Amino acid sequence: MRKSFPSGFVWGSATSAYQVEGGWNADGKGPSIWDVFCMIPGKVWNNDNGNIACDHYHRLEEDVALMQSMGIKAYRFSISWPRILPAGRGALNQAGIDFYNRLIDALLAAGIEPWVTLYHWDLPAALEFEIDGWLGEEIPEVFAEYAELCFRHFGDRVKNWITINEAWVVAILGYGHGVFAPGKVSKDLPYRAGHQLLKAHARAVEVYRTRYQAIQNGKIGITNNCDWREPLSDSPADRAAAQRALEFFLGWFADPVYKGDYPDCMKERLGERLPSFSPEEKALLKGSSDFFGLNHYTTMYASEAKPDAGSGSVYGNGGLSEDQDVDLSVSPDWEMTDMQWAIVPWGCRKLLEWIAARYDNPPVFITENGCAFDQTPVNGQVQDDARIRFFQGYLTAVHEAIEKGVDVQGYFIWSLLDNFEWASGYSKKFGITCIEEGTLNRIPKASAQWYGEVVRNNGL
Ligand code: GAL
Repeated sequence: MRKSFPSGFVWGSATSAYQVEGGWNADGKGPSIWDVFCMIPGKVWNNDNGNIACDHYHRLEEDVALMQSMGIKAYRFSISWPRILPAGRGALNQAGIDFYNRLIDALLAAGIEPWVTLYHWDLPAALEFEIDGWLGEEIPEVFAEYAELCFRHFGDRVKNWITINEAWVVAILGYGHGVFAPGKVSKDLPYRAGHQLLKAHARAVEVYRTRYQAIQNGKIGITNNCDWREPLSDSPADRAAAQRALEFFLGWFADPVYKGDYPDCMKERLGERLPSFSPEEKALLKGSSDFFGLNHYTTMYASEAKPDAGSGSVYGNGGLSEDQDVDLSVSPDWEMTDMQWAIVPWGCRKLLEWIAARYDNPPVFITENGCAFDQTPVNGQVQDDARIRFFQGYLTAVHEAIEKGVDVQGYFIWSLLDNFEWASGYSKKFGITCIEEGTLNRIPKASAQWYGEVVRNNGL
């Protein structure tokens, strides 16, 4: 039976600057920590980099036409901070401002609503050198100044702002496991970086709310990522482990924004290792998101850690698992994407219900959901049935959540174009269909057509 989504539901697709733009040093752009990270041999699969990527910087009109042909109504992209502020602060690069003006204008002319992320991981390298990046005392202020520049230049046309994409990934992969820029390996730095990310978010929102929101009539929020954690058994210990894993994952960044402070279980377990907020910072954080941005990809089982099992050993998904005492696992029955992320639509529904219960049913926008499959084009096309099945499953789960009262208001597929997948580069395994740089991924995919149909069927 065909399901309809609520009227006004936002249907979109998403990308990020470093993953698609290319033009890494074009027209005065400064280097970002990802430009530098990619230069270090061995950091990225095949030593790939985003120098050209999808060449979106030079082909934006073509890409907007592609979106229009798919029928999508919203496009989430990120601004490259060093493209408009080459040194992170100070002198402006007008060519960068011009590029985003052209993109925004082209989208609006095509009837596509821009959703703009201010930070999707490409910190200006100058700020890493000069003020210790996300560990620096000054960073919240410097971020707020950059954000203000964006509101000032683009806010007359951009009505949907996302401050930070996936602070968890920045903190854990950038400062804990060290597999993403800036590549630091530490047990304590993730909590310090996370703290500064939250303060930076709150300051940018404060600037928007006090100086721009009333005039520009937009909304602003933060996007966090979370997988679902299903208790491995019904035992109280495993149920508590799953809850703890979710609090260390999503609660870490969503509790301060909705409740004004970190989850108790983090405070208890981390003690001094978790920085604390001043009363002023708590007040600024609480209620600092007009919507709940969620990136969701997969599900794992969680159980109470067994002393010898190698706690939470799955790379990248477990956070700093020894802090949580949680073991993670997957069911052999679950189908996997080629990124080895399990396809479990009911996990998406359960996560949405968890968010609604914990945060008093906020408006949720799924700002990323998608899957990677290693596909070979046939006659210049990809018949990607697995991806269609994936979207059917997850959209059905989202619909079920809505029927249960969860206030989901939008859904963005990741991604519009196959692109540079961070430390995995252009590995086919990570879903890149066409690896010839500069001609990346404009291959017509059956799923794009299918998604267009869904959008049209919902009367948009
Ligand atoms: C997210 C990230 C995206 C993309 C995606 C997986 O964590 O925000 O940039 O890497 O995962 O393809």
